[in-house]
Amino acid sequence: MKRSKISIIGAGNVGATAAHWAASKELGDVVLVDIPQIDGVPQGKALDLAEAAPVEGYDCRITGATTYEPTADSDVVIITAGLARKPGMSRDDLLLKNTEIVRSVTEQVVRVSPNAVLLVVSNPLDAMVYVTHKVSGFPAKRVVGMAGVLDTARYRSFIAAELNVSVEDIQALLMGGHGDDMVPLPRYTSVGGIPLPELMATEKIEAIVKRTRNGGAEIVNLLKTGSAYYAPAASAVQMAEAIIRDKKRVLPCAAYCDREYGVGGYFVGVPVKLGSGGVENILEVHLTAEEKKLFDASVNHVKDLIKTIRL
Ligand code: APR
Repeated sequence: MKRSKISIIGAGNVGATAAHWAASKELGDVVLVDIPQIDGVPQGKALDLAEAAPVEGYDCRITGATTYEPTADSDVVIITAGLARKPGMSRDDLLLKNTEIVRSVTEQVVRVSPNAVLLVVSNPLDAMVYVTHKVSGFPAKRVVGMAGVLDTARYRSFIAAELNVSVEDIQALLMGGHGDDMVPLPRYTSVGGIPLPELMATEKIEAIVKRTRNGGAEIVNLLKTGSAYYAPAASAVQMAEAIIRDKKRVLPCAAYCDREYGVGGYFVGVPVKLGSGGVENILEVHLTAEEKKLFDASVNHVKDLIKTIRL
């Protein structure tokens, strides 16, 4: 059987942490790439992770590089290259710089891995997935963005803490863009199969929704020198696992929606079936008039952001 290969572009906080988790799950061989200006850093991190393998017992090759040849024929490429937020910055403030970075990364990735699924993490997420899709020329189902899994993970962790129950039993769905106007759906949130509104007062749910919307900024304000990386990396690796192991998981991801939800050709957060083909299906759930209004507002924000991109 052919060994799977995961390349991770950007060997910074998110990239290196994703490499760690991908290796510990033995998803396949991992290649960590960064820019030539910091030659040695991706190689050093990869070597360090490889040297932990005998202790942790994961059996995969982990290499670092500042060129793209070692990434050739990747099954999944996780793009984390770009600037991270500092306190006071919104994700949108990263737009210009990260558009350039993600464009150049995508060009180099697709040259050597024409059949990969591209998994985008760089922010502002919904715009960066759009850039990756446009520049790659790949079919939309092979380009997907990581946002909903992370936002949902934050939301689930807050609910579990509040109810003092296991995070394992919280299932949730969150839609829309990866911004302050993301759309958590308490109706579609359950605790061991019990709908959340049965167990938690509306005000408490609203407070948790607010904290979730602000979840990225909460970490930025605590760290002061950068943005979150453990949960973002774990979320990206969960998606990579769904693709590499063809698990057909149902996860909220930034996927290309045309007629779906009436989006009209943009990448936004929706529940999808994720398997070896990438986004194999978009699941359309019923939204109430109020939920649809919030979703449309979130999609409009994504559209406004994309209008400012010059490729
Ligand atoms: N090619 C490859 N790597 C690049 C490029 C490029 N053109 N430009 C920058 N990088 C690398 C940087 O050298 C750095 O090592 O991307 C890495 C980013 O790492 P960090 O600064 O630690 O940022 P991180 O926290 O990992 O966030 C990366 O993910 O969650 C998003 O908003 C976040 O856009 C940000 C991205």
